[in-house]
Amino acid sequence: MTTSNFCEVIIIGAGASGLFCAFQLAKKGKQVAVFDNGKQIARKVRISGGGFCNFTNLDVNASHYLSQNPHFVKSALARFNQWDFISLISQHNITYHEKECGQLFCDNGSQQIVNLLAHECEQYNAAIYLRQHVDKIELLEKQKFSLLINKKIWHCQHLIVATGGLSMPALGATPLGYQIAENFGLNVVPPRAVLVPFTWRENDKFYTALSGIALPVAVTAKCGKSFQGNLLFTHRGISGPAVLQISSYWQPNESIEIDLLPDQNIIETLQKFQQKSPKIHLKTAISKFLPTKLVEIWLQKQFIQDGTLANISKVKLENLSNLIHHWQFYPNGTEGYRTAEVTLGGVDTNEISSKTMESKKVRGLYFIGEVVDVTGQLGGYNFQWAWSSAFACAEGI
Ligand code: FDA
Repeated sequence: MTTSNFCEVIIIGAGASGLFCAFQLAKKGKQVAVFDNGKQIARKVRISGGGFCNFTNLDVNASHYLSQNPHFVKSALARFNQWDFISLISQHNITYHEKECGQLFCDNGSQQIVNLLAHECEQYNAAIYLRQHVDKIELLEKQKFSLLINKKIWHCQHLIVATGGLSMPALGATPLGYQIAENFGLNVVPPRAVLVPFTWRENDKFYTALSGIALPVAVTAKCGKSFQGNLLFTHRGISGPAVLQISSYWQPNESIEIDLLPDQNIIETLQKFQQKSPKIHLKTAISKFLPTKLVEIWLQKQFIQDGTLANISKVKLENLSNLIHHWQFYPNGTEGYRTAEVTLGGVDTNEISSKTMESKKVRGLYFIGEVVDVTGQLGGYNFQWAWSSAFACAEGI
């Protein structure tokens, strides 16, 4: 063991929230050191949004977040909102475009956001230490922390935990943030992988033949929450934006309801067909709206029987309508943290101030970003939470 160092503020985690907070503090003249276990900064930012980083959304408000306290996000989101982040990236000449539902992506790749974070930290002298292993954290006296990092002792006045969630352990995710909270006596809402694909039950595995096919659907969870968007059949189960969204509202052992044709009433459509072309076969008619392969599988499995539309009974039409508009899908489970975009749960919001992100029990200890029990829907909301919570924390120090 060598010398001990002092730094006014120590941040654990050089991801979206940690780096953002670091340069906001350094800009205010605070002495800041950021420690990360990885060999690169902001690894999730780099791969986010399919490589184009969906950095925020035009419509940011509390209704897009899940938390045991749905009001918790309001203060931070109000103080640093999507327009503030847009203004920052414009200062860096980062151009962007809107995709559906207000989602904003970089035109020229997510590396631009990583560069912005790195550049701002460098400009204001926030030190970043990579490949760091945090072994021990102690509270020595009022508002003074001691940390053992890579066999070196560090002291700080303010300790900010920005270690993110548990998704994608291959990118450095660890439970350290939750452990720090628990060691200091703070409650942690049990974490769970969300924004994650579902897997097939054994009985449904025949659907793997549809792997690669995508179609627009509406999905509804038992709690009543519903999303419209694409569903993608995969060889493990189902994925796609609508499915990822609903995974945050799904509880194990529940079914989700899938409407495979949300924009039309299949009974009415087929009745019109019946009048115009009674000799047309059911398979041909529904294949005009749904993937032929899906219809073939249903025929094979005898979920529907083919025949001319002239001969189709009302009961058969109703059964078909149920199959198409009210498919009860029982997931076996999810793909888990390996592929999940985020983690639901985290440090209980009752334990921290919504204004400064400081622990109510331990002065000088802060939690920001995904490690907190705040989870955004798909669409740039999680990064906006990272920026907003980091900004609130930096303002509070
Ligand atoms: P973040 O995960 O960014 O950073 C945490 C840091 O702490 C990491 O650098 C990690 O290595 C470090 N760390 C962890 N344990 C440590 C330890 N023991 N010691 C030291 N360091 C440790 N969101 C969005 O809004 N738009 C999008 O487009 C996407 N896309 C996306 C794609 C994929 C594939 C994933 C997995 C996630 C997304 N997200 C997203 C979610 C988004 O990436 C996420 O919510 C934020 O990065 C959270 O920021 P944080 O700073 O809280 O954690």
